[in-house]
Amino acid sequence: MRNRVFNPIGTVALVTGASSGLGAGFARELAERGADLVLTARRQDRLEGLAVELAEKYGTVSTVIPLDLAAPGAVAELVADLHTRGITVGTLVNNAGFATYGTLADSDPVRLSEEVSLNVTALTALTRALLPDLLQASRAHPAGAALVNLASTAAFQPVPKMAVYAATKAYVLSFTEALWYETRQSGLKVTAICPGPVDTEFFEVAGRSADSYRDLLTVADVMRTTFTALDRASTPPHAVSGLRNSVFAQVAGRLPHRTVVTVVGRMNRSGPTA
Ligand SMILES: NC(=O)c1ccc[n+]([C@@H]2O[C@H](COP(=O)([O-])OP(=O)(O)OC[C@H]3O[C@@H](n4cnc5c(N)ncnc54)[C@H](OP(=O)(O)O)[C@@H]3O)[C@@H](O)[C@H]2O)c1
Repeated sequence: MRNRVFNPIGTVALVTGASSGLGAGFARELAERGADLVLTARRQDRLEGLAVELAEKYGTVSTVIPLDLAAPGAVAELVADLHTRGITVGTLVNNAGFATYGTLADSDPVRLSEEVSLNVTALTALTRALLPDLLQASRAHPAGAALVNLASTAAFQPVPKMAVYAATKAYVLSFTEALWYETRQSGLKVTAICPGPVDTEFFEVAGRSADSYRDLLTVADVMRTTFTALDRASTPPHAVSGLRNSVFAQVAGRLPHRTVVTVVGRMNRSGPTA
């Protein structure tokens, strides 16, 4: 087992989108490392099932808060609820997110607006609201407090037919890296995680099959990337999951935009980029 630097024992970690896929993976890994949890998403039954599993396996105390984070006022409601319960969050995993697939002209404007509300607005508001808690936790528990924001390899270049999704993830990456710098002397671990396509409910929600991908990542792959980054004494501002994805992200940053968007547009004719 690699050397564990990130040690959230005795802290509370809040995971958004904990009802499936990567969010449930983050909750399991954080519970295994000794954190108590706040689990939020819309599907209450899933969250409660996970809370029971974590209590049985690790003795974790989980607080389940079912919420539609894309709804106006939802973040304020969540923060007020935490305050009422006396919960101070030491690790925040902004994981809830979804993609829409199709040309902009053919996309449902309401759904696009929800996508921006969840992937960008809620993530920003929750980070701002809980940042004082996170900074306080990083002082009380050195190497035990973190902010993990879910970006994507879609953050590194425009993605035709996923124009809004890729733009939201470019925002998450830029926002998180700026915050990484702003908080660099605090001891808070701040990082944006950039997975390529992962085998979760993501594609079903986006309304596309994942069959065109031969090498989908697993939730375990993304957990390895994330916790390796958190276990580094100096956590990087972002971490890409998957070697091929890492190379592609670096190449995309060096090529002219016209070339990159044309190549990705051709690749994405038959299937989505995650
Ligand atoms: N899978 C991939 O290929 C991939 C690649 C790169 C990045 N990512 C990113 O990773 C994150 C997790 O995705 P995933 O792959 O684990 O997909 P997933 O299995 O579809 O999980 C998405 C989570 O977000 C929650 N969510 C969706 N809408 C919500 C809302 N309005 N309010 C509150 N919670 C909401 C869902 O819960 P409820 O439905 O119960 O609300 C679910 O728990 C996302 O930010 C995604 O963009 C995924």
